[in-house]
Amino acid sequence: MRNRIRRHKTFLKSSLLYFLTILLGTMVLPKAKAQVKPVDAEGHEWWQHAVFYEIYPRSFADSNNDGVGDLNGIASKLDYLKKLGVDAIWITPCYPSPQVDFGYDVSDYENIDPMYGTLADFERLASEAHKRNIRIIMDFVMNHTSDQHPWFKESRSSRDNPKRDWYIWRDGKGPGQPPNNWESTFGGSAWQFDPTTGQYYYHYFYKQQPDLNWRNPDVEKAMFDVTRWWYQRGVAGFRLDAVDTLFEDPDLHNNPILPGKNQYGDPNMANVYNTKLPELHGVLQRLRKVADEYDAVLIGETWTKNIAELKQYYGEDNNELQMPMDFLFTKVDKLSPDEFRKQIAGVNAAGWPVYVLSNHDIVRAYVRYGDGVHNDAIAKVMAGLYLTLRGTPIMYYGEEIGMTNNDPKRRQDVKDPIGKLGWPKDKGRDGERTPMQWNTSENAGFSETKPWLPVPASYKTHNVETELKNPDSILNFYKRVLALRHDDAALRDGDYVALNKNDHNVLSYLRRYKDEAVLVALNMSSSAQQVSFDLRAQGIKADMASTLLTTMKTNQEKAALRSITLEPFSVYIGKIEE
Ligand code: NOJ
Repeated sequence: MRNRIRRHKTFLKSSLLYFLTILLGTMVLPKAKAQVKPVDAEGHEWWQHAVFYEIYPRSFADSNNDGVGDLNGIASKLDYLKKLGVDAIWITPCYPSPQVDFGYDVSDYENIDPMYGTLADFERLASEAHKRNIRIIMDFVMNHTSDQHPWFKESRSSRDNPKRDWYIWRDGKGPGQPPNNWESTFGGSAWQFDPTTGQYYYHYFYKQQPDLNWRNPDVEKAMFDVTRWWYQRGVAGFRLDAVDTLFEDPDLHNNPILPGKNQYGDPNMANVYNTKLPELHGVLQRLRKVADEYDAVLIGETWTKNIAELKQYYGEDNNELQMPMDFLFTKVDKLSPDEFRKQIAGVNAAGWPVYVLSNHDIVRAYVRYGDGVHNDAIAKVMAGLYLTLRGTPIMYYGEEIGMTNNDPKRRQDVKDPIGKLGWPKDKGRDGERTPMQWNTSENAGFSETKPWLPVPASYKTHNVETELKNPDSILNFYKRVLALRHDDAALRDGDYVALNKNDHNVLSYLRRYKDEAVLVALNMSSSAQQVSFDLRAQGIKADMASTLLTTMKTNQEKAALRSITLEPFSVYIGKIEE
């Protein structure tokens, strides 16, 4: 009897302990979230006030003159970035890699490729960046590893290896026949036969990039631990590579074939069974919980077809990606106020917008929007647009000096494998990845040796040193607009209010914050435009604006809102005088 009572008491005690643990747990969990610190009264977080800048490390600055950029090179340019107005740098993969996809084939997630330096170099870069209040964002290649990663080497070694299920292995349909019709986005079948075990493995990208099996909890754990490892080394967040493709239909249904062929000669296909599967949102929610413990930000490489798809990436409760990139914005490929207006309204309704003009996979904005005659003026119009919108901009290195694409002229010069395969329809991505143009010396001051990719002739005029000396340069315009963005509460935190919505030449809007308002008017046409603003509908009686920044030659201190003449391809930014 006594024993039974004691047992009962022990049970009560342990239940109480269990209950207390659960209670404490629920009290502790929100605390982890509470580490996320707002930086203003609106509850905005640091990444909402920050300007991000993408660095392709191979091409930014070469400190050891081997023709390839490196971490010490980046460290040597931190003062430049600080003065430019950059708050966070996203470094594309600099981990050990066979470099088949220039770093997007990672063979060790917790180290630095010797070509870029060492972990000690990384730590020095992190500490120098920290001193300047610049945060570091790493690239998280989570869909796939390199085929040289030890996990894959184990996985392919035998069918019963414990790592076998870390990747997607399947039997073929018959001799020489892959398991289904899925295509690699980089050309050919997405299945590669491996003779060692007589099965196929799945790769959405190159065959040297086998897809991880995110249905396996051990994969999730190992990959989440990678993020912790970097957070503990001071990293402020990740740009998540290829999130759309994390999951595949386990039943391997064939994708529907569409009419026509793609640039690699494969039939067009709707990737309905191997992209954007609902399961990926669970992974993002759990990854976000880890990020929140470190006040970190998750940026998504989110290629969405429409705003509804983009909205899903924020999470129903804003519990997935804080910063899914809006690539729909990059798809507005002409200077069309109407199309930009539509796009901006859409993303504003979806969540906190994240704007990019281009990146290491997209032709540079300078040529996409340029008309070949007014490219510099147009580059300022585009900067005047996405750097004054509500949202977070992610710049691409060299954009601030008007770097152009330098596409290979001959197939034998192409470095990017898809450029070789797709030539001449698809020349690959070398053109947008050329070395940063620092000055007029040989190799644009990037390196004393021949760089891995050639610099375009435009480096003589479009480089940091030359542009710093010219008050009208693209670079000085970027510096001014970024300074304004940091200083002005309306540009930083204000709402976006579209104005003159029927104007097909001029895109204009207000940024409103409390009783402050800033007017932005962008003439996207090649002729002068007369614009008139009646802000009474916004509850604003003022009829004057004081000029904050303009690219116009006839630069006046004030502008009458009822009649502003905008020069061709010009930017006007003014504070509404109330
Ligand atoms: C997207 C990256 O931006 C691109 O450069 C890469 O080739 C693929 N993902 C595969 O990782």
